[in-house]
Amino acid sequence: MANTILVGAQWGDEGKGKIIDFLTEHADIVVRSQGGNNAGHTVILGAKKYILHLIPSGILRREKVCVIGNGVVIDPVSLVGEIETLKAQGVKIGKGQFLISDAAHLVFPYHRLLDERREVKKGRNKIGTTKRGIGPAYGDKAARTGLRMCDLMQPALFTEKLRLKVRENNAVLKALGGASVSFKEVNDACLGAAEKLRPFVTNTVVYLHEALKAGRNILFEGAQGTFLDLDHGTYPYVTSSNTTAGGACTGSGVPPHRMDRVIGVMKAYTTRVGEGPFPSEDVLVSDMLHGMGREYGATTGRARRCGWFDAVATRYAAMINGIDDLAVTNLDGLDSLERIKVCTHYKLGRKQLDVPPTDTRQLAECEPVYIELEGWGKPTTEAKRWGELPAKAREYLKAIAELTGAKLAIASVGPGRDQTIVL
Ligand code: GDP
Ligand code: IMO
Ligand code: MG
Repeated sequence: MANTILVGAQWGDEGKGKIIDFLTEHADIVVRSQGGNNAGHTVILGAKKYILHLIPSGILRREKVCVIGNGVVIDPVSLVGEIETLKAQGVKIGKGQFLISDAAHLVFPYHRLLDERREVKKGRNKIGTTKRGIGPAYGDKAARTGLRMCDLMQPALFTEKLRLKVRENNAVLKALGGASVSFKEVNDACLGAAEKLRPFVTNTVVYLHEALKAGRNILFEGAQGTFLDLDHGTYPYVTSSNTTAGGACTGSGVPPHRMDRVIGVMKAYTTRVGEGPFPSEDVLVSDMLHGMGREYGATTGRARRCGWFDAVATRYAAMINGIDDLAVTNLDGLDSLERIKVCTHYKLGRKQLDVPPTDTRQLAECEPVYIELEGWGKPTTEAKRWGELPAKAREYLKAIAELTGAKLAIASVGPGRDQTIVL
């Protein structure tokens, strides 16, 4: 299937986990390149539900190799917890089948506390983070004061470095009115986790280049979504990594010219969790989806904000990521509607915009301009082929792909592996 980057084309939770699991059948290796356990990727297999936070969603296919790349920030204790939860669910995670980059930066309890305190201090301007310490951990990385997996693999050195970091961060936490962390507790917990992770830690760049040489196919699993990208998203209401296609290269060490294809995953409508502007947000859509028991966050359980499909956003996402193919998920969420709105442009004062404005305050002032399409008013969840979808559903999918400016390749009509239509 060639080397494929899969990205979220909206604000995260597009159904990347489901599509990755589906596509992994034709890949040899699945790589996470950015983000941390702020991600929550859901895979449903029969009656079982798996939520992946740090481990690539390819892990459910036994014969594949999963890699956590250098660009990911790892909470070591949380990663051990995730491995144990998956093992308890019957998932095999053996040496050789799972690799962790020795260059990945680490997330510590003081990062989580800083994340929380900074949110509290921001008051109503808060970002609505997942409170997993992601921003402070990437902050340390950029400030060149972070600790990495290779440090954790050297206990004596790690303990010395951590001691200084805890001292410094406890002072910052105190200034922010927060609780301090116990050096001993953090150190013990991390060194305990280190021994469980040690069999998996390696130079994943070298591994991936050897795999490339051997002609193996790599699938890059994006976390979050385009508008949460640190550079291209709705700053400051973003996460702290590059969630767009370029992040797959920097976060794995695989160069751009080795990438063959970019797939953008988007919902047939739009959701966002956390604060920040969302032009096509619509209370009726939120109420409808929440009423169906859908759209609650996989990581924090928060109700997601919902709205109509926003083609201004996805068009921009197609540009930034170079999206070749689209996977549209959650089509079935719209099954009951008679008419469906699609945002084609924004109005800002008297100007009509085709792409989102850079200034987030201006984006918050944008009014969505909608077209209305006819709904199909019947279930799509049983459709196995394109021809089995209602004609109006096919028209809707074609319309949103055309407005986005990329080719429709996959339509998803339910959370299950077999509820996936390949065009
Ligand atoms: P991710 O973070 O992009 O992997 O997405 P999440 O797992 O956070 O959220 C997507 C949600 O939609 C999950 O509950 C999935 O099981 C579910 N899902 C994915 N595709 C479909 C679909 O086509 N229909 C329905 N009903 N649910 C879907
Ligand atoms: P997946 O991979 C949806 C959002 C948070 C918040 C902002 C910053 O499952 O699509 P952070 O904790 O990263 O500092 O929070 O980003 N956010 C996500 N929203 N899906 C995600 O991941 C997200 N990861 C972070 O809600 O608005
Ligand atoms: Mg998610």
